[in-house]
Amino acid sequence: MVQLGLIGYPIEHSLSPWIHERFLKQSKIKGKYTLYEINPEENFEKAIENLTSKQIAGFNITVPYKQKIIPYLDQLDKEARDIGAVNTVKHSNGKWIGYNTDGKGYVRSLYKKYESLFINKNKKVLIIGAGGAARGIYYALLGEGLETINITNRTPDKAEEIIQLNDIGINSEVLSLQTAEEQAHEYDVIIQTTSVGMKPRSNEMIINLSALKEGCIVSDIVYQPIKTKFLKRAEELGAKLHYGHTMLLYQAHYAFELWTDTFAPTEGMDEALQQVLEGR
Ligand code: ATR
Repeated sequence: MVQLGLIGYPIEHSLSPWIHERFLKQSKIKGKYTLYEINPEENFEKAIENLTSKQIAGFNITVPYKQKIIPYLDQLDKEARDIGAVNTVKHSNGKWIGYNTDGKGYVRSLYKKYESLFINKNKKVLIIGAGGAARGIYYALLGEGLETINITNRTPDKAEEIIQLNDIGINSEVLSLQTAEEQAHEYDVIIQTTSVGMKPRSNEMIINLSALKEGCIVSDIVYQPIKTKFLKRAEELGAKLHYGHTMLLYQAHYAFELWTDTFAPTEGMDEALQQVLEGR
C-alpha cells in the first residue's frame, strides 16, 4: 500500500487526490493520497514530524509551505535548489528528499502536445512573468536545446535574477512588457506564467497579442478558466494553444514517477481533468 499525500493551506479543493488516485488505478498500484491540511496557526515542525513518522512514500507541498519545508528535508535535488522551492518530497532510504516538478512537468506537457517543437530546435521562446512558476519553466527549458528563451516581466529585476540560472550560454534577454508586445511576432512559443486572467478577473490580459506570428504556440498556465482571454485572443490570431491544466497534470505525473518509479498512463486524463474543472 503506497501512502501519498499533500500538505498546504487551504487544500480542500485540491485536484491532486483526483489526479494521483487515477494514476494509482491506471498503474494498478494499491495506494492512497491523503490531504494533510496544516493551518498556518499550527506548529509546522510538529505537523511535519507527525507526517514523516508515518509509513509514507512521499508527499506534495503547496502554498504556503513550498519554501518553509526546506529546512526539514535531508537533501534537495538541483532543480529544487536552483528554484528555491519544493513541491514534492520523496522518502528514500530513510531520507527525505525535496524536488520541484513544476518545470519538468510543464515541459512534459508541452512535449506531449507539440513534440515537433523539440525536434527542429532553432526555436524562440518568450516567458511572460518572473515568479516561481516562470523560474521552474525557464530552468527546465534551458536543457531542451532551444535557440532563445527571453523573459518579460512588469518588474525587470526579477526576470534578470532568473536568467542568472542560464549556465549553458543560450540567448536570453529581459524585455519590458511593452517591447514584448511589439516583438511578439519573433516568437515560436509564448508562455504566460502570471496570475493575470485567472478567475474572477478573467477579463484581464497581460499583453496584447496583435503582433503574434501565425502558428505560434501560445501557452497559459492559468487553468481557471480553461480557456483564458489570452488563449482566446491567441486562437483568433491563428495560434496553436497549450492549456494550463495540462501542466497541473504533468507536474503530478513526474511526482508520481519519483514516488513509484512508474510512468503512469495518462490516456483520457487531459479531457477528464478539463471536465472536472469546467464543472466547478
Ligand atoms: P508564482 O510563484 O505562482 O509564479 P508569483 O511569485 O506571485 O507567482 O509571481 C507572479 C508573477 O505575476 C510575477 O511575475 C508578477 O509580476 P511582478 O514580478 O512585477 O510582481 C506577475 N504579475 C502578477 N500580477 C500582475 C499584473 N497585474 N500585471 C503584471 N504582472 C503581474
